[in-house]
Amino acid sequence: MKKNIEELFDLEGKVVIVTGGAMGIGKAIAIRLAEAGASIVIADLVAEKEAESTLHEIRHKGGEVTYLQVDLSNSKNLQKVIDSTLKIYGDIHILVNNAGIYRYVSVLELTEELWDKTLNLNLKSVAFLSQLAANAMIAKKHGGKIINISSIDSLKPSGNLAQYDSSKGGVRMLTKAFAKEVGKFGITVNDIAPGGVNTPGVHKVSGNNVSKEELEASEKQIDQFMKSLPLARMGEPEDIANAALFLASDASNYMTGSTVVVDGGLLLM
Ligand SMILES: NC(=O)c1ccc[n+]([C@@H]2O[C@H](COP(=O)([O-])OP(=O)(O)OC[C@H]3O[C@@H](n4cnc5c(N)ncnc54)[C@H](O)[C@@H]3O)[C@@H](O)[C@H]2O)c1
Repeated sequence: MKKNIEELFDLEGKVVIVTGGAMGIGKAIAIRLAEAGASIVIADLVAEKEAESTLHEIRHKGGEVTYLQVDLSNSKNLQKVIDSTLKIYGDIHILVNNAGIYRYVSVLELTEELWDKTLNLNLKSVAFLSQLAANAMIAKKHGGKIINISSIDSLKPSGNLAQYDSSKGGVRMLTKAFAKEVGKFGITVNDIAPGGVNTPGVHKVSGNNVSKEELEASEKQIDQFMKSLPLARMGEPEDIANAALFLASDASNYMTGSTVVVDGGLLLM
């Protein structure tokens, strides 16, 4: 039966896991999907207190949310995320793999430690949390949606991010490989490739090991670059959350294995 627009974007009764939902892009996604009626489980490294504004905003709008403090870079913790979600809400319909880290370093100075840390979170946790979530969806026989947050760096390296770019390139291919196998169970798998987005993580890496003057200069440089984009601004977390709502909703039911680029035109430069 043809759905009207309200029904198409209605996530009432859906249970969604958002990794890295305490702040930044994950926060905006958690809030937006809660606004559409979904019950949200946020799985994030930081203490619940640091996620207070996210939890407050969801609950203040009448939404349902549970917070799980967990280090997803340790694969032993992934099953706990699934078990807790099933215990609390009895189901999983949508998984948003958003948690990720990015550190700037020349490929000539890249350490094995940073490589492992980045790949363990950005790629390995995405693979195995998706596997667990997909098996839970299959057991419930209702299909589902997996949304991975990749990056435009998976399409074009921006420099000094070899370990990150490799992880995100992996996420984009994992999306396609996964999509090919789980489509027959009614599960779609897509990724969103954001460009530069205004988040705490971006401000933190700009401020790493630099003086106040250097930080101001680098933020000014970023600002100037963003103004030169076709859409002449940096992305906001909500820009990515709106694409996630589309991929989480029935409006995207015939899409799988796709990358949705949300970059203000950065790749056209
Ligand atoms: N901000 C951008 O410009 C941009 C661009 C392209 C892609 N992305 C991607 O979007 C995603 C979110 O980025 P952001 O800028 O919002 O980052 P952010 O640093 O602002 O937030 C990341 C969140 O992930 C959590 N996290 C970090 N390590 C974790 C771990 N080991 N286990 C569980 N949670 C952990 C953090 O606590 C935080 O809440 C990342 O995958 C990032 O690579 C961001």
